[in-house]
Amino acid sequence: MDRYAVIGWPLDYTRSPQIHRLFADHCGEALSYEAQPISPENLASTLEAFLKQPEMCGFNVTVPHKESVMARCDALSDEADEAGAVNTVVIERSARATRLIGHNTDGAGLVQDLTQRHGVSLDGAEILMVGAGGAARGTCGPLLRAGCASLHVLNRTPARAQALVEHLRTRADAPRLAAITHDAVASHGPYDLVINATSAGLGDDVPALPEASVRGAFCYDMLYGKETPFERWAAGEGAHRVATGLGMLVEQAAEAFRLWRGVRPPTDAVFDLLR
Ligand code: ATR
Repeated sequence: MDRYAVIGWPLDYTRSPQIHRLFADHCGEALSYEAQPISPENLASTLEAFLKQPEMCGFNVTVPHKESVMARCDALSDEADEAGAVNTVVIERSARATRLIGHNTDGAGLVQDLTQRHGVSLDGAEILMVGAGGAARGTCGPLLRAGCASLHVLNRTPARAQALVEHLRTRADAPRLAAITHDAVASHGPYDLVINATSAGLGDDVPALPEASVRGAFCYDMLYGKETPFERWAAGEGAHRVATGLGMLVEQAAEAFRLWRGVRPPTDAVFDLLR
């Protein structure tokens, strides 16, 4: 049977096996999908082992391996190259060679969730991205390509926001992309869409953000859970609507499944089940 996995460290709370098994059942695809907690010291030997197992067809990659796996891929999709990180690997086998092809489906997952599930129009939207780590880097390019009017990046450490913008500008024609300061956000007033791509919520915290930016905005937290601190805060400050990243999780998984199996599974039933 074709085998797939998710690798990360630690990997206690991953929902990927449940999601992919539901997709497989729904699409009638015979496959197995397991969580494999792999420490950074064991990453290289794990990848070697995957290459030697003919039934191993691909894997998802999560924290902290997204950059290290990228460095070991034989080829990258444009999205993975742009993001500087890989979250999905296709193992391509031929008589001549076995190759690791790295993809990044996070951006496509976010755009799909925003536009299809939440009905957000990205075309012409003014967007504020809060955070400049891997989560922000993987999603700015797809948001620009979806036609937003402007994409401002605000980060606690401003130099990282500037670095993200410069990195993307080398790859994309992105005059609509800019790093922004806290003060400039305050004088900008409300955005159409505010995306929290920081990990502040993991520590029950909310990134420092002028209240005016979220008033009347659609506020999206890439983290998920019953109600995230950012969701709660934004709702209290007059956000038009709030949502967590659960839909993005399901949609990025559906994109990975499509890359592996050639069919994009329907996602609504899985989303409702996980809610
Ligand atoms: P990820 O890959 O999940 O994006 P990361 O690369 O470690 O993780 O980035 C975490 C992001 O969350 C960064 O933008 C970080 O801000 P700094 O660059 O200033 O560190 C942001 N972040 C984490 N905790 C935060 C907090 N309490 N308030 C504001 N921003 C926070």
